[in-house]
Amino acid sequence: MAQKIQVPLFDLKLQYAELKDEIQAALQDVIESQHFILGPQVEELENEIAAYCRVPYAIGCASGSDAILLALMAYEIGPGDEVICPSYTFFATAGAIARLGARPIFVDIEPTTYNLDIAALEKAIARCTRLKAILPVHLYGQSVDLDAVLDLANAKQVPVIEDAAQAIGATDARGVRVGARGAIGCFSFFPTKNLGGFGDGGILTTQDETIAKTLKILRVHGMEPKYYHSHLGINSRLDALQAAVLRVKLRHLDRWHHARQDNAAFYDTFFRNAGALDSGTPLAASSPLAMRIPKPCAAPSTHIYNQYVIRVPSEKRDALRAYLAANGIGTEIYYPVPLHLQDCFVYLGYKEGDLPESEAAARETIALPIFPELSKAQREAVATHVVEFLRS
Ligand SMILES: Cc1ncc(COP(=O)(O)O)c(C=O)c1O
Repeated sequence: MAQKIQVPLFDLKLQYAELKDEIQAALQDVIESQHFILGPQVEELENEIAAYCRVPYAIGCASGSDAILLALMAYEIGPGDEVICPSYTFFATAGAIARLGARPIFVDIEPTTYNLDIAALEKAIARCTRLKAILPVHLYGQSVDLDAVLDLANAKQVPVIEDAAQAIGATDARGVRVGARGAIGCFSFFPTKNLGGFGDGGILTTQDETIAKTLKILRVHGMEPKYYHSHLGINSRLDALQAAVLRVKLRHLDRWHHARQDNAAFYDTFFRNAGALDSGTPLAASSPLAMRIPKPCAAPSTHIYNQYVIRVPSEKRDALRAYLAANGIGTEIYYPVPLHLQDCFVYLGYKEGDLPESEAAARETIALPIFPELSKAQREAVATHVVEFLRS
């Protein structure tokens, strides 16, 4: 019997095999130098990421979660302050707000891109009495409507802190890379991100020299000069070993983005041919196949597909996932519970039904394998099994 093709959700070993010699040489250099924390490798990475994101300053830190925390700290956000963010995102977005004693104000998403809904954002701003920042997320690798978010934030004179953890290199409706137009951009180097390290890591981008200086102080215990503490900072330094790996990988990042975009284009065509519509049409509307694919990005905006996420009827979603797993195909649910309904945020007083689009997305979405090294046979197997199940 022919062996079933295995398709993990991601396969980091393939990327490592391709770059093994380059990475090992870079790691060896760091080991020989015995300089492990911050230092020249981190500074070089900061310069290279700043150039890549087309901003004057980039500041490395220990994770994407810390990047958000440091960004909020740089704006002195604290107890009683309000920060608006989407509910449908990874925990770290709102965790950082709450960790500082501030109040996350959860706003619903618009169902086409899964990013902040601008009309809902406007309403939430009007209700806030102590709004200190807006924290949109470029979910799955696609920019939020930054023009609209920036206009609303500017009118209120509050900073926009971009959670660009999943979106390095993605461009917005003006063709500008994310993390460049907000007050601060926050990026994650979690291993499965498009630019992933060999462990945790993160970076912040900014145009503002004063904010850049503050972030550099905050990441080393608020210390400048040594042992003199002007701020109440944290320990959130990027390791030189991570920076060395990331510098090698950064050289390949655009090629990997293109490979992901090529995989996405394959899925789009395959699913459209099978009768799927894009996420611009509600799932409830009748269509040849009860499935929605990501709505294409209008140029010059680009999607870097950290995730390729489809929408299917909620009563079929978990069964589809089980069927794919039984056929050797890995998937993930990003995210099964929107943040306004998480146990740790009960004190905020949200209830089911408050943010219906976030709740529907949590029930109906599923992420398929999209990593750059996916073979033609693998992506074909994924698409075939998805359609086969939905037609059954
Ligand atoms: C949207 C979003 N924000 C923040 C983070 C936090 O990044 P990290 O895992 O590097 O702390 C992640 C990463 O998983 C993310 O996806």
